[in-house]
Amino acid sequence: MVKLNTNFRNLKESYLFSGVARRIREFKAANPSADIIRLSIGDVTRPLTAPVVDALVKASKEMGVAETFRGYGDEQGYGFLQLKIKEYYQKTANVTVEQDEIFISDGAKSDIGNFTDMFDTDNIVLVPDPVYPVYVDSNLMDGRKIVYIQGCEANGFLPLPEEKTQADIIYLCSPNNPTGAVYTREQLKVWVDFALKKGAIILFDAAYESFISDSSLPRSIFEVEGAKDCAVEFCSLSKTAGFTGTRCGYTVVPKNIVVDGVSLNRMWLRRQTTKFNGTSYIVQRGAEAVFTSEGYASCRQSIAYYMENARMIASTLDKLGIWHTGGVNSPYIWLRCGMDSWDYFDYLLREANVAGTPGSGFGKCGEGYFRLTAFNTKERTAEALARIAALYNR
Ligand code: MLT
Repeated sequence: MVKLNTNFRNLKESYLFSGVARRIREFKAANPSADIIRLSIGDVTRPLTAPVVDALVKASKEMGVAETFRGYGDEQGYGFLQLKIKEYYQKTANVTVEQDEIFISDGAKSDIGNFTDMFDTDNIVLVPDPVYPVYVDSNLMDGRKIVYIQGCEANGFLPLPEEKTQADIIYLCSPNNPTGAVYTREQLKVWVDFALKKGAIILFDAAYESFISDSSLPRSIFEVEGAKDCAVEFCSLSKTAGFTGTRCGYTVVPKNIVVDGVSLNRMWLRRQTTKFNGTSYIVQRGAEAVFTSEGYASCRQSIAYYMENARMIASTLDKLGIWHTGGVNSPYIWLRCGMDSWDYFDYLLREANVAGTPGSGFGKCGEGYFRLTAFNTKERTAEALARIAALYNR
């Protein structure tokens, strides 16, 4: 008889954002006239920009003509997109990555989840708490032991390892989802030195790098000396270019990383060529347009729009005397809710018809906190804030 992967028993009943969506649906079913404003899942509201749409249309037309039609694509992604990403690294982070270190994917989440295929179950996984729940869930599915390193107000939600910290696989997310905290170069150097000393791998989630406005902060872990010997970096166009529904990301696996005589880059290529047939040609052409000067400038306008929402949220919270962080180099605002975070979720939904994300969904250390995103429209964000202010002033 078939045997299931019993590790799934160790997961919570549903993935955080599915659970949030279910609660919103249930509330809406019970209150059909409620006009719910979602500041919960970080899903973008600005449309794809004109250069991206033009490239998508052009590529779609090519696919309808025998001479320009394409079947299976290059295994790691098309060279035209890899080269644009290579240039982007050089320009934004002053980092040199090789073309064959770049793997195009359908988004950072898939690669982060799938990358665990590279590692034995007998590894200690170190996860900052609070953090994006995919790291924990994908390792629980594989049955790996997870240890947590605590983020809190005292360390600015940027925990650092100690000599006694145990880890073989380390997840870092900077700018952090959910707290918006960003590691400095010096802090990342501490992590890199620690990983090199322990023979550990850092899986660095840089999905929100384009939201960093403070030029002194690193946008890539590869800005830190030694990182190319121990870190893999995951990036996404979801928030940078509004690709949450279009799907494209990329992962950089340095060729320097050799574990037990095996190149991690070659191993990932072997895994991807077996289990993944690439991101569609059309989408990769759309992604290529993001990295042109016109395309990037238009994406920066959308980012600026969201960051204006973030400023609006922060300013309302300040006026209400609510402690918060994030929202400066990240589209997420992390606030102290002063009660059980799921109770606060229900309270805000019921009393203001505003949905956010409970901090405890990101880990135990997130209890008592709440995340709001800046990804809604300006008008809806303003309306949500007016409702929250009215609720607090009541
Ligand atoms: C979030 O809200 O944290 C993200 O949008 C979820 C994701 O990127 O998968």
